[in-house]
Amino acid sequence: MNNRWNKLIYRAGAPFYDYLFNAGPFARARKRVFADLAPKPGQRVLLVGAGTGADLRFFRGKELEVTAVDLSPAMLAQAKSKVNGNENIRFLEMDAQDLRFANQSFDLVIASLILSVVPDEHKCMSELVRVTKEQGRIVIFDKFQPRESEMPLPIRLLRPFIAVLGTDIGRDYQAILKPHLGGLFIQEDSPAMFGEMYRKIVLQRRASAGRRL
Ligand SMILES: C[S@@+](CC[C@H](N)C(=O)[O-])C[C@H]1O[C@@H](n2cnc3c(N)ncnc32)[C@H](O)[C@@H]1O
Repeated sequence: MNNRWNKLIYRAGAPFYDYLFNAGPFARARKRVFADLAPKPGQRVLLVGAGTGADLRFFRGKELEVTAVDLSPAMLAQAKSKVNGNENIRFLEMDAQDLRFANQSFDLVIASLILSVVPDEHKCMSELVRVTKEQGRIVIFDKFQPRESEMPLPIRLLRPFIAVLGTDIGRDYQAILKPHLGGLFIQEDSPAMFGEMYRKIVLQRRASAGRRL
């Protein structure tokens, strides 16, 4: 997977994306994932790889400062069309592996279906952590390989073909999180859809030693 291919694939898929990934089981799973987040007015929210803005509805009209970034102008155009330019939401073209924000800029960082898509999921995860404020939260909704097990044969066989469509079904979230667990609490790690395949993971960034006193 690479950024150039992702841009092509998501440009082609942008007009149809919502029919599949913002409807039916996906729409229901998103509703469950975001039901209990309750960000406070004034908080800064970042949607990383925001795509067509399927998650925007959970953050609109709540006096939040919302920023949505994505590599694909075509996907961002779909997201913008959902808010008609009436709302105070920033849309920026940006690589999720190289976020152009200062350290600790956001209270809530949303990573829906992006760690399975970027070429380097470890770089992306480091960026999610870097831009999250102390005590801030990162919410991941994504598909990963089954926990604590060898990758099942069908997934191993299908993986390269599905990767051509712009997503990887075999990523290991425990390996992605491991280097960061010193600085993060896992608040929730639960199945979100299609059995164990899609997960909701809520992480909270720890306060630094000085702030804990
Ligand atoms: C599967 S879609 C998920 C979109 C949205 N978050 C959702 O939940 O529907 C993946 C998105 O990641 C974007 N993307 C792919 N590579 C990226 C990168 N390196 N940086 C930022 N966005 C990227 C694609 O353009 C696409 O919009």
